[in-house]
Amino acid sequence: MDASEKKRNAAKAALEFIEPGTTLGVGTGSTVNFLIEMLPDIRDRIDRVVSSSKASTALLKENGFEVATLNEVGDYDLYIDGADESNKRLQLIKGGGGALTREKVLAEAARRFICIVDDTKLVGLLGSFPLPIEVLPMAQEMVSRRMLKMRGQPIWREGFVTDNGNHILDIHDLQISNPLEMEARINRIPGVVTVGVFANRAADILLIGGDDGVREMRI
Ligand code: 5RP
Repeated sequence: MDASEKKRNAAKAALEFIEPGTTLGVGTGSTVNFLIEMLPDIRDRIDRVVSSSKASTALLKENGFEVATLNEVGDYDLYIDGADESNKRLQLIKGGGGALTREKVLAEAARRFICIVDDTKLVGLLGSFPLPIEVLPMAQEMVSRRMLKMRGQPIWREGFVTDNGNHILDIHDLQISNPLEMEARINRIPGVVTVGVFANRAADILLIGGDDGVREMRI
């Protein structure tokens, strides 16, 4: 089975968690795109929708959904999103698609966070996937120098501008043995908008699409 079929299966499994009257937060990426395309089938169970990116908002609208703002809905029921890596504690690396800031905000505001992935995303140690950091453009070089001191190799995602008008640095060669500490440490650097370690607010449930169907992990 190829990765995209596994992603589609994980997205389908997430539909079961959407109960009648749900206010749903929608992440960003190819796995979530499968989810969005399935949402019209369960339209009657969804009260309101909030989105983590311009791309997801556009696809939600194409599928007939109006998109509310987080300020309108407040803390809400359920956030569903993909990830670039997850460890067994459901701590994540996110931001491969560059939407990490709004994703982190929506994850924080959700009472439940379900992460949907294919089985290549489950790892022992976070960090093989280059860690995305959203930075203010004027702080890009300074943050790069701080990451070099932390033994990471920063690569500017040239030509990419986030929905918030910022830049992304992808940090290679980090071995993230303590995700909570790494998240807090990078967050403290002035000019960092968001680091793509999701450890302080990890996922509650991980749905992993594999060759034998979808496996569920909880913390
Ligand atoms: C976007 C993300 C995505 O969730 C992550 O990159 C996974 O993407 P995909 O579902 O396409 O594999 O964090 O910022």
